[in-house]
Amino acid sequence: MKQLTLFEWEQAHLSPEVQRLEAKYASRMREDLRMGSLVSYVGNKEAPLLRLYRYKEAFAFRFVDEWLRRFEVSQKDIVFDPFCGMGTTLLAAGCRGVPALGIDRLPLAVFIAETLAFFFQLRPGELNKVFQTLLGKVRSAEPAPLAMDVAIMQVAFAPQTLAELRQWKTVIDGLRPPMREVFLLLFFSILEECSYTCKDGQFLRLRRDKRTAQPEEALAKKVQQAETDLRKIQELGWKEVFVPFRVVLGDTRRLEEVCLQRPPTVLITSPPYANRYDYTRTYSLELCFHFVRNFPELRELRHNMLRSHIEAKLVDLESSRHPAVQEVVDFLKAHSKTLNNPKIPDMLTAYFVDMQKTISQWWKVLASSAHVVMVVDNVRFEGQMLPVDLILSEMAEQEGFAVEEILVARYKGNSSQQMGRYGRLPVRESIVVWRKQE
Ligand SMILES: C[S@@+](CC[C@H](N)C(=O)[O-])C[C@H]1O[C@@H](n2cnc3c(N)ncnc32)[C@H](O)[C@@H]1O
Repeated sequence: MKQLTLFEWEQAHLSPEVQRLEAKYASRMREDLRMGSLVSYVGNKEAPLLRLYRYKEAFAFRFVDEWLRRFEVSQKDIVFDPFCGMGTTLLAAGCRGVPALGIDRLPLAVFIAETLAFFFQLRPGELNKVFQTLLGKVRSAEPAPLAMDVAIMQVAFAPQTLAELRQWKTVIDGLRPPMREVFLLLFFSILEECSYTCKDGQFLRLRRDKRTAQPEEALAKKVQQAETDLRKIQELGWKEVFVPFRVVLGDTRRLEEVCLQRPPTVLITSPPYANRYDYTRTYSLELCFHFVRNFPELRELRHNMLRSHIEAKLVDLESSRHPAVQEVVDFLKAHSKTLNNPKIPDMLTAYFVDMQKTISQWWKVLASSAHVVMVVDNVRFEGQMLPVDLILSEMAEQEGFAVEEILVARYKGNSSQQMGRYGRLPVRESIVVWRKQE
């Protein structure tokens, strides 16, 4: 009898529906590992403006730029990012002189994205000057109000650091727009280094042994970095071609509430992944400093995000219509005792219900023949692989999109625990390319 390789053995252990999907899309799937470094924030480390704030879930400027070039976008196009995060897609389109619209449900993300455009109104040297005037005021400033009833706020900072940060927040709040927004962005970007927290993997971890930065020094460094970027955007010629973009605080599951003005012709995005990630936890310091007044407001925001996290609640016996989701969810329910969180099956159901709604909304608002480019991560729970790239592609096909390509950008590290238990079948991070057909 022929002995199976480990890979073949694992393939054979994919659920039947997952095997069907893998076979269905095999001819449209290819590796493009060159894209691997561009689907993550790491690619933005040197990117002017985007490097100022570490939005960990962002993709790289060059990723978007490459697709805009491939699609030969012009001023006649409208680029749309319905999960716009810090606005990478919008900035890349704006710097090519192409109009763009972004939507995000997290007020912090919308704020960062909007503020990136304000940098184009500033002249080199202006930030330094304002920083010097703030230095003269900060020691006598009152502490700014914060959402101190959120548990992490009680332990995230040393008391003296927290007191200084609150004073900085007060003097920055006293600036006039757009300087206030620009300084707030720089201020939010130093909170992690001034705190005992780390935006690690899926969580905001508390690390009491961490060496923390001092607010004044950290902000001074950020201002220098921003000054360098103001010069850089001039040198790169971005300033001459830049077209401001529009950013809306909204829910991409309910686009009927958002006035789009013209149908978008290109959609480039990346949704939250089905991996328990909760944006309202990772960014809770920033949210508590400015965007929510108390814990109930933070919790409400959590429940209004796309349901990719463990607190996702199912409403009225919701279930996903997709057979691969049903199959894997049933398997996980049957094995809930060994799952490290029993709420994972409900989270997966909620995630795919939300994504189905989202794709259907996109189909309604996009221009005919519009392209969709979306970066997604597959997930594995209890050894069960969920090919999110293929499931969403099949949902898109049912909606009326043609699935043109599925590019594998990289294979993600599995946790060593999972590798030990379930072997090495890699988890893909893919770029799906769809086209709207009428
Ligand atoms: C992977 S991130 C996108 C990052 C983005 N590509 C960038 O470069 O910054 C996914 C985004 O979806 C947002 N989001 C979650 N639920 C949403 C919803 N219902 N509607 C719109 N945006 C949502 C999150 O706040 C997050 O910013």
